[in-house]
Amino acid sequence: MSNVVTGNRPERVLVTGGAGYIGAHTVKALSEAGYHVTVFDDLSRGHPEHIPGIPLIIGLMEDEDALRDVFASYEFDAVIHFAGESQAGESVLKPDKYFRRNVIGGLNLCSAMVRKGVSKLVFSSSAAVYGDPEEIPISEQSPVRPKSPYGESKAFLERALAWYDRAYGLKSVSLRYFNAAGADPGCSMGEEHEPETHLIPLVFRAISAQTPLTVFGDDYPTPDGTAIRDYVHVTDLAGAHVLALDFLGKNQDSLVLNLGSGKGYSVLEIIKEAERVTGKKVPYVLGRRRQGDPAVLVASSGKAVEMLGWRPRLSSLEDIISTAWAWHVKSSMR
Ligand SMILES: NC(=O)c1ccc[n+]([C@@H]2O[C@H](COP(=O)([O-])OP(=O)(O)OC[C@H]3O[C@@H](n4cnc5c(N)ncnc54)[C@H](O)[C@@H]3O)[C@@H](O)[C@H]2O)c1
Repeated sequence: MSNVVTGNRPERVLVTGGAGYIGAHTVKALSEAGYHVTVFDDLSRGHPEHIPGIPLIIGLMEDEDALRDVFASYEFDAVIHFAGESQAGESVLKPDKYFRRNVIGGLNLCSAMVRKGVSKLVFSSSAAVYGDPEEIPISEQSPVRPKSPYGESKAFLERALAWYDRAYGLKSVSLRYFNAAGADPGCSMGEEHEPETHLIPLVFRAISAQTPLTVFGDDYPTPDGTAIRDYVHVTDLAGAHVLALDFLGKNQDSLVLNLGSGKGYSVLEIIKEAERVTGKKVPYVLGRRRQGDPAVLVASSGKAVEMLGWRPRLSSLEDIISTAWAWHVKSSMR
């Protein structure tokens, strides 16, 4: 493998998993910022209709030859890597799937980049690397102790990237997202996972189908007994990726950054706000805690503010729920 050559502002960007939820919102932000984007996605959960006009290569991250062909056929200055599996609960039952798709897939990408001399990578990591945090809000200095193969796969790739930097000069920004939520404010796309495991779209499905949502655990040490999470608007996340590319264009450093709103909301608070925004009752039942779900996860994102100049603008709970609801209504009419 040759040493990586670093350049200036990246112009041509490969986005793996760019047809997915956060990926497609980021592709939109990149296009608006003037980047030339190509998407690589196996469409296992992607929505090509959310990336109109963007070149799409259909392929698997685990297919080393396919990735090598992509880098042999096109020129890229940088890569944003979203593609992967992301359900912590499923990963406990199917670790093989998660290590193959996330770890082997990620390493295939790094090898192809190093071979071709592409030296800038933004990587979708996750708050799942922290496991049960010792302190709230969680800073990047908090111990990395994942409690699922999913979190382990993210932590592994982060650590591998530190070694790729040292040996080959591959510079990366690993972004540890908390709970991505909300939808494009222009309502051109939103969250559509199947199966859906994320709270806000499940709340809306409960409203539309009039089938109760299960609230997992009401005996946590939180004010109302339900688990508290940090919800960050997907458009704010997309903006952070554009800033991360700018950072990599101007600096010779690698970074690991949290991305969250810094505010925590309990499941019952989300339900209450959804009822207020939609004017509809959310049917729900109380269930038992899910194994491995911490009581509270709230980010300190001060480092992203300082290093990238990131300013989340749409991450109030009201903006998150109203944009997600507008998308839910629009997509249910299709
Ligand atoms: N959504 C969240 O709240 C959240 C939080 C933390 C981290 N993340 C991470 O962010 C990334 C994007 O999350 P998302 O919610 O947009 O997920 P998503 O499932 O909507 O998008 C993932 C995309 O990658 C594609 N893909 C998956 N495995 C692939 C493979 N092996 N080869 C090629 N393509 C593949 C899918 O078809 C999909 O388009 C993931 O890596 C996830 O782990 C998400």
